[in-house]
Amino acid sequence: METVITADYDELSRLSAKKVAEYIKPDTLICFAAGDTPLGMFKELVAMQSRKEIDLSAAWYAGLDEWVGLGPQDEGSCIKVMTEAFYGPARIPKERIRVFDGLDPDMDRQCREMECWISSRGGIGFTLLGIGMNGHIGFNEPGTPETPGCFTVALDDTTKSVSQKYFGKVLPVTTGITIGWQSLYEARTVVLMASGAGKAPIVRESLKGPSSVDVPASLFQKHDDVTFMLDKAAAALL
Ligand code: PGA
Repeated sequence: METVITADYDELSRLSAKKVAEYIKPDTLICFAAGDTPLGMFKELVAMQSRKEIDLSAAWYAGLDEWVGLGPQDEGSCIKVMTEAFYGPARIPKERIRVFDGLDPDMDRQCREMECWISSRGGIGFTLLGIGMNGHIGFNEPGTPETPGCFTVALDDTTKSVSQKYFGKVLPVTTGITIGWQSLYEARTVVLMASGAGKAPIVRESLKGPSSVDVPASLFQKHDDVTFMLDKAAAALL
């Protein structure tokens, strides 16, 4: 387990982008978290591509999660965030991206299709995850099941209240769909990011506490190739 502590958010974004760039190879399957934390990193990646340092369109992409009931038009949906922050500016061809459709009435089908996308590409090569306020990763909420593959999940109260920062209003979201932590754990390389003083207590639990499904990020402590990328504020309690 490697831990990188940066001076601030800008440095976190720059160094995380450099790390991601090492894994953008033709036909690697990449899984990026949405959320606020990676936004600066996405900008860096797009800038690196415009300087011709990397070709982001060479990889495959799997969307980590989605709010059930939200679609591409909805402010704060993972697909809208990722399209605006990454897939669009990076000009990723549509056929290279698989995301959950939060509007599909058949979530089992969504799970099966994502599992198929992942397994037919030999599993996830690289994943970059954000650590949530409750230690979740994607919608692997505290107490996450050992279920393999993808699943839907009842959202934790913390996730519901934090969600309002993405939607700009109160939305009665109750359910998420996510790539399960076991599939994420099978990725060859995992990066977990956190920024800001508000995350410091959960960052401490994730890195120094017991490895437990109660703090899903802590499950990655024993992964063979995991890096926790933190800014100084998020690392303050380590
Ligand atoms: P954030 O979300 O990057 O917006 O803090 C992280 C998460 O809850 O997954």
